[in-house]
Amino acid sequence: MIKVAVLVSGGGTNLQAIIDAKAAGIINNAEISLVISNKPTAFALERARKAGIEARCIAPSEFETREEFNEALIRTLDETGIDLVVLAGFLVIIPEKMVAKYTNKIINIHPSLIPSFCGTGYYGLRVHEKALERGVKVTGATVHFVDEGTDSGPIILQKTVAVKDDDTAESLQLRVMEEAEWKILPEAIELIASDRVKILNGRVKVI
Ligand code: GRF
Repeated sequence: MIKVAVLVSGGGTNLQAIIDAKAAGIINNAEISLVISNKPTAFALERARKAGIEARCIAPSEFETREEFNEALIRTLDETGIDLVVLAGFLVIIPEKMVAKYTNKIINIHPSLIPSFCGTGYYGLRVHEKALERGVKVTGATVHFVDEGTDSGPIILQKTVAVKDDDTAESLQLRVMEEAEWKILPEAIELIASDRVKILNGRVKVI
């Protein structure tokens, strides 16, 4: 059983999808050992506590320097013996030191089909606004490993979602979550926990 930490900043619907997948037996080989938020008010913390999961807030404002915050984050993961870090709407740049220490052990969910509508500045509603502006007919979500870049690590899973003529950024954001994000994030966790994800030349092979 691998130990997973889920890092969040907001509402935590992706965290909820992971919790529900664990309860439903979709995730069998991983336990959610810890939830960390950088914001004390994140509703995700409530969701974690309600599910009986240890939930901690580690806020940059509690530390004198960014370096100290980074160290606290890494120390917490180390002390808990975390095998896999899941970024589920975590709006903090992951310290280089953490990427180096947890190489191929950090995954992120992004609400588009990478390499479209991703990279610096593409988060939240903006991703969907840009997809609508461009007039794409399909969009979706991507789970990928985190490397030193922004949304540039090896892609693990993607799922498409059709764009409707009358979609707004808000309606599209919700459908991408319901139809794609909440499905492929738990699925990717179980694949990794079952040792079925291999990386070869920067590309993922599911075995
Ligand atoms: C999701 O759209 C996710 O793709 C993005 O941030 C959002 C988080 O939503 N990275 P929630 O906090 O899981 O509800």
